[in-house]
Amino acid sequence: MNLLVILAIIAAWIGLRFLKANSLAWAAGIWVGLYVGLSYGINPPLPSSILSMFMAIITLALVTYLTAGNDRMKEMADTIVTFVVDKRYTGALIGVLIALPLLVSFKVYLNMTQAPEPPISGRTIHPVPPNTITVNGSPFNIVEGHNPYRELESSDPDAFALHLENGRRVYYQNCVFCHGDNMEGDGQFAHGLDPIPANFQDATTIAMLQESYLYWRVAKGGPGLPSESTPWLSAMPAWENFLTEEEMWDVIMFLYDYTGQRPRVSEEVH
Ligand code: HEC
Repeated sequence: MNLLVILAIIAAWIGLRFLKANSLAWAAGIWVGLYVGLSYGINPPLPSSILSMFMAIITLALVTYLTAGNDRMKEMADTIVTFVVDKRYTGALIGVLIALPLLVSFKVYLNMTQAPEPPISGRTIHPVPPNTITVNGSPFNIVEGHNPYRELESSDPDAFALHLENGRRVYYQNCVFCHGDNMEGDGQFAHGLDPIPANFQDATTIAMLQESYLYWRVAKGGPGLPSESTPWLSAMPAWENFLTEEEMWDVIMFLYDYTGQRPRVSEEVH
């Protein structure tokens, strides 16, 4: 409930009472008050189809009320005739005659210019990987397996640097077109793709994944995604068809090195 809106409507109705408004003004006041109340006074808002239904019923009820007795009919007719004929109201009449079509066209304009929104897609971005995969004939266990070159980072920094260098070459020869110059998922091809390429600078991609998970995604690509949460329509290629296992590990290490992220490691259970 939006209390302010409701209070404003009640205040307006009390105002009508003080002005000793006639039935027609009351009907208009009640109609506008209920419309504003139902549109803006309720949280979460009513669906517009329900709102139209309510307003149709309210309109019918008010018309029935206004036309139910001879006295009220006469009062209403007199009010309308006075409003149209009496010189005192000419200004107001012109105002109403201009405002009504303006309001209607404004409403139509608003409805026509609403930007279309794509339906929300329930795609799982990081699905559960299979336990084991076979990459070019050699089995790899995603749960227990690890990057065979990662330990070089501390044991042999020079050899590690060579792997990074190779990873850089692999990235700029193969991945940059989709994942972008700065790994932000905005390469030249990105515009045509849905889902868009992963943004590795974003904390929700490689920073929260393990290297073995990336190895699966790089080796098997879009075609290797599990069938749940389809359609994937991911353009990510299956790189095992084009790269050696070492090249795939190297490019993975380069992704982390370039973005300054650390791969997630399995927590020790004590
Ligand atoms: C043809 C475009 C294209 C190319 C080239 C490409 N990718 Fe992708 N990649 C994608 C798209 C699209 C996604 C997002 C959809 C998905 O997860 O499959 C993605 C997702 C990924 C993911 C998953 C990230 C996550 O958060 O789950 C990794 C890792 C990845 N790419 C690595 C690479 C690497 C490494 C290369 C180069 C060897 C590469 N990609 C080349 C299109 C591409």
